[in-house]
Amino acid sequence: MRQPEFWIIVAAGAVLTVGHYTAPTDDPFWHDLFRRLYYLPIILAGLRYGLKGGLITAAAISFAFMPHVLMTRQTLYVQASESRFEMPLYFLVGIVTGIVADRQRRASESLRRAERLKTIGEMAAGMAHEIKNPLAGIRSSAQLLASRTRGGDAELVDIIVGEVDLLNKVVNDFLQYARPAPLKRGPARLGDIMESVKTLLDPVAAGRRVEIELDRPDSEPEVSCDADQVRQVLINLVLNAVQASPEGTAVRLKIDGHGDRVRASVIDSGPGIPRDRLRAVFEPFFTTKEGGTGLGLSIAQRIVGEHGGSLRLEPSPGGGTRATVELSKSR
Ligand SMILES: Nc1ncnc2c1ncn2[C@@H]1O[C@H](COP(=O)(O)OP(=O)(O)OP(=O)(O)O)[C@@H](O)[C@H]1O
Ligand SMILES: [Mg+2]
Repeated sequence: MRQPEFWIIVAAGAVLTVGHYTAPTDDPFWHDLFRRLYYLPIILAGLRYGLKGGLITAAAISFAFMPHVLMTRQTLYVQASESRFEMPLYFLVGIVTGIVADRQRRASESLRRAERLKTIGEMAAGMAHEIKNPLAGIRSSAQLLASRTRGGDAELVDIIVGEVDLLNKVVNDFLQYARPAPLKRGPARLGDIMESVKTLLDPVAAGRRVEIELDRPDSEPEVSCDADQVRQVLINLVLNAVQASPEGTAVRLKIDGHGDRVRASVIDSGPGIPRDRLRAVFEPFFTTKEGGTGLGLSIAQRIVGEHGGSLRLEPSPGGGTRATVELSKSR
């Protein structure tokens, strides 16, 4: 079913064409009037149907108008030459109105989508918050139970605690993603943040027989950042690298200057990320891991973006992956 505007445009084009062809050929007034009234359906089509609508209507009207130009060539000299200019103008008006309307429509669509996402995010974040309290209750009760049980039952309690921890991680990641905290900037050294990330993740890496090596320069400029959030970024990157590393290999953390920026790199010798997946891994909920939420990289990218920095993943020269965060030096 076509919308009413479609029929208004068709009717206006038809009425104007009939009027134009039946107007007395010796009276330029009517011809001038109809020629200009043709702009109305073109503008309406451009506004309603965008560039495509504007172009098709301009073409249809030029097509309807063409025989008139040829027919009246002998009688209405002045108009005939003016008419030739009129047709490109029909197209110009159709194109400009269409482009402006398309752009407007895209902007309002993305605004609507952002608002919808925000509402869903807020609702879900509220729910996630409510889930955290019962989870804490389940965990502490299970631990209490563990201290009183023996033998095979203790294993079951361990499973409960492990699963609760996994749920907690999912909820925390989700909360962090849906309700980002505002940045609290201050001067900090990426090397110091890396140092604390290494201390935190050394035991995790050791459990997988992977080593973490940190290479920091003797002197290093400060960056202006929210140290807690940047730490979160580096934890996500180092954890990904450790999880991707085969046993017996090392994850290398490197800090260096790069123009007016400071760069932190995390290099692993894992299987690497296929090129056609390098973009997808930043999508929220994209994961290839059992028990992964797929939010690590999207959270990291958002935080780095809010700092005005950049986060890149690329194949590292010796195979594996190199993740690089760049932040501006503080002034
Ligand atoms: N260093 C890496 N080497 C190989 N693949 C990687 C590496 N880093 C990320 N990936 C791929 O990108 C995907 C998304 O990573 P992301 O950190 O966003 O989520 P995740 O690690 O799967 O889950 P989590 O939310 O627990 O971090 C991973 O599942 C993995 O396939
Ligand atoms: Mg991850």
